[in-house]
Amino acid sequence: MIQKPKGTYDIYGEDGKKLLYVRELIEGLMEKYNYEYFETPIFESSNLFHRGAFETTDIVTKETYDFKDRGDRDLTLRPEGTASIVRSYIENKMYGNHTVPTKAWYMGPMFRYERPQSGRFRQFTQFGVEAFGSEDPLLDAEIISIPVNLYKLLGLKGIKVNINTLGDNESRNNYRNALIEYFRPHLDELCEDCKERFKKNPLRILDCKVDSDLDIMKNAPRTIDYLTDYSKEHFEKVKEYLKSMNIDYEINTNLVRGLDYYTHTVFEVEASVEGFGSQNVLCGGGRYDNLVETLDGPKTSGVGFAMGMERLMTALQYENVEMPLIKNIDCYVISMSENEKDFAIHITNDLRLNGFIVDMDYCNRNLKNNFKNADKLNTKFIIIIGEEEKKSGILTIKNNQTKEEYKINHDDVIDFLDEKIVE
Ligand code: HAM
Repeated sequence: MIQKPKGTYDIYGEDGKKLLYVRELIEGLMEKYNYEYFETPIFESSNLFHRGAFETTDIVTKETYDFKDRGDRDLTLRPEGTASIVRSYIENKMYGNHTVPTKAWYMGPMFRYERPQSGRFRQFTQFGVEAFGSEDPLLDAEIISIPVNLYKLLGLKGIKVNINTLGDNESRNNYRNALIEYFRPHLDELCEDCKERFKKNPLRILDCKVDSDLDIMKNAPRTIDYLTDYSKEHFEKVKEYLKSMNIDYEINTNLVRGLDYYTHTVFEVEASVEGFGSQNVLCGGGRYDNLVETLDGPKTSGVGFAMGMERLMTALQYENVEMPLIKNIDCYVISMSENEKDFAIHITNDLRLNGFIVDMDYCNRNLKNNFKNADKLNTKFIIIIGEEEKKSGILTIKNNQTKEEYKINHDDVIDFLDEKIVE
């Protein structure tokens, strides 16, 4: 038996319905925020990711799916969405002719060669947003409000918003130097990965899961002590705007995030329900005022976040969040023999075009088995088409709940069902 690749999963049945419900809610929310929907390829030229800005992160150095196509091109399955949206923003010259800020949202599969565990997959889906062209902290606060409002709309309660700031380039450099000085005498105490991080990007040491309980980690210098006045003010404004929206948050000074492109605000929302598991970060993001330039575009600020759909769906399941899923179909159409199938499919097609949810018998079941199947499909009405019905055009319609039977001219079926189903 062929099995799905390690770190992937199938969705079907009720889980499929739930996912579609959540996606629809996201689509509606993004409309309210006036964000534009973007789609970009799931594979990109490898050099979009394998370059300076990303080369110090595990996601790019250890986890990308890189391959050559038959034309010998170097391609990479995207490990995240931000780089692709920035590429598209630059390639389509949106900085010149688009609305400012350009506000984009996307949803699609991402690929990381990680060690699979609960909440961590090799193919997973992210819902993300990116906004370009404004340094205003209003936009940072708006971005944080998106996942918070989505969770509110869904009825998810056990969440915690963690925020921090890395500041502008000057603040980041000051902080970087302070970290180098602080960690240099303690290098022997750090794990092998952190020793590497010390050389390439000391900020990432704070993000280490292995060393996180060490005292030297807990007492490490804090970003907020190295901020320039501008960076301080930016962060104060973000906090003020979050308060204006009644969004609760905690400041976590060790929050630096796994990707290296961030400046100023960084944030994560975690599921704070006990026992949720170690992969409890539902979403994360922040500001990245240098990334567009690093990817060969004009100097343009950016801010965004991405949310793992799998972790969101698990959190909803964990909290037993009810969703208004469609459990019934409107109509089940039965033809009594081969001769009535043409009329049955005509009626079925017509009803579907008029907005009804309709299924039919495709298996030549006898009447008894058809009634059983109708129950299994939770149908509200059954339409039975025999020789007589086809000849006269008068259909036999049965209410599957009350078992009442009606004789309705086929021209009046839509009106009849409209009336009955509203009842
Ligand atoms: P990230 O923190 O790498 O950020 O991923 C964002 C979210 O994607 C995580 O919080 C998590 O929910 C989900 N996620 C990541 N890896 C996996 C995995 N292997 N399996 C399941 N879920 C996963 C980014 O990707 C940035 N591009 C976010 C961003 C957008 N920053 C600014 N704009």
